Amino acid sequence: MSNLSFDFDKRREKKKECNCPAFFFFLSTRMTKYDVRNYLKSIYEVPVVAVRTRIQHGKNKKNHLNQRVKQPDYKVAYVQLARSASPLGHGIRHCSSMFKANDLQVTMTTSPRTPLPPDKLVFGKTFTDHMLSVSFSEERWGKPSISPLRNLSLHPAVPALNYSMQLFEGMKAFYGEDGNIRMFRPQLNMSRMRRTAMRACLPDFSEVELLECVRRLVELEKKWVPKSNISSLYIRPVYIGTETSLGVAPTSRALLYVILSPVGPYFPQGGFQPVSLLADPKFVRSWHGGVGDFKMGGNYNPTILVQNEAQRKGCQQVLWLHGPRQNLTEAGTMNIFIYWTNASGEEELVTPPLDGLILPGVIRQSLVELVKRQGKIKMSEREVSMEEFMAAMSEDRVKEMFGSGTACVVCPISKIVYNGKDLHIPTMKHGAPLASSFLKELNDIQYGRTQSDWTYVV
Ligand SMILES: Cc1ncc(COP(=O)(O)O)c(C=O)c1O
Repeated sequence: MSNLSFDFDKRREKKKECNCPAFFFFLSTRMTKYDVRNYLKSIYEVPVVAVRTRIQHGKNKKNHLNQRVKQPDYKVAYVQLARSASPLGHGIRHCSSMFKANDLQVTMTTSPRTPLPPDKLVFGKTFTDHMLSVSFSEERWGKPSISPLRNLSLHPAVPALNYSMQLFEGMKAFYGEDGNIRMFRPQLNMSRMRRTAMRACLPDFSEVELLECVRRLVELEKKWVPKSNISSLYIRPVYIGTETSLGVAPTSRALLYVILSPVGPYFPQGGFQPVSLLADPKFVRSWHGGVGDFKMGGNYNPTILVQNEAQRKGCQQVLWLHGPRQNLTEAGTMNIFIYWTNASGEEELVTPPLDGLILPGVIRQSLVELVKRQGKIKMSEREVSMEEFMAAMSEDRVKEMFGSGTACVVCPISKIVYNGKDLHIPTMKHGAPLASSFLKELNDIQYGRTQSDWTYVV
């Protein structure tokens, strides 16, 4: 131990001289110097100058029964980086290979099924005949394949099941009136997925190649895209860590797969159905420095109980508040927009900023771009506190409030239950003209009625 400490001290001195970050950490005894270098390079994206590892023998200790027990041996690594780097959000986990859509291998099902009519579809319950999958192991991607939909076989120790080393995406394909199938801005989903993969320490992949594989899957499953201008095919990419290890560490094995699910209309009776929200500051969805702006499964499970609480109080969804000012952030799994006359008397559409608390939604981005392009209303991405919102409500300045997301495009909000009081929002008073114009505009693009570079033809 003394040698080790000495080494570390010497390195610390060097660090002072060159002002480069240096630190040590515990690692599993299986990990070599080479593994450490790769791991650090992957999360810091900065060359590693020095790595030293040592086996540290576990000491004899007394347990609670006063018996002497020997602690297990462990390994320590000392590391020096070439220059400063932040591991958060920047650490692309590079790997020596990227899978290629050209290598796609296709195995067709021998028992194809007939799709249900759109009005019989329940969200997320029906799946198409095939799935896409590609796995990563021994620092290499395998060949992507499209094969009949199947169950997965996983070791119970995999980090996806133990530590939520998992992420997903959600996007849609639409059957256009011209017979073409289109996806809506899938590039944004691909880059959001890759960004989440970096945060989850999952191996890097090529967004372009994955999108081409997804396109091929949708093309092969085209009979499952509902021929209806209110239904669509939901595309669900999932990416999981699959190493057989209980270590809390980056995974050396991973599986990326994509399944497809035809979905009926979000508003089954047609038109808009506004939702009510429970705003209770004791529930928090995300925090600064957390992972609320990534699409990881771990963000969603804790919301189910709160969603149940909202339903128990007669609301459909949760309005997520944040911080001492109780800033409005998201509604359920939607970004939010408020259309009002602001305190300075301007017509303004406001949405919370991308400050790490909210998911950077594809529809959110599209609405912000649309409004800025049209230039008729002031578009602001800024914080709105509950106090500011209540003041606008009491002065009758709020015109519309709505959520945005792939599932509904836009969803009007008619009531917020806050501190035991019902705040009635006049969104539907005149039929939500702004929200419904957004719905029409985006639907026209999605179903090919309006030409747009936001669509990606399959
Ligand atoms: C937490 C959360 N916020 C917002 C959204 C809306 O994002 P998008 O417009 O990409 O569907 C979603 C849905 O993916 C979500 O899960």
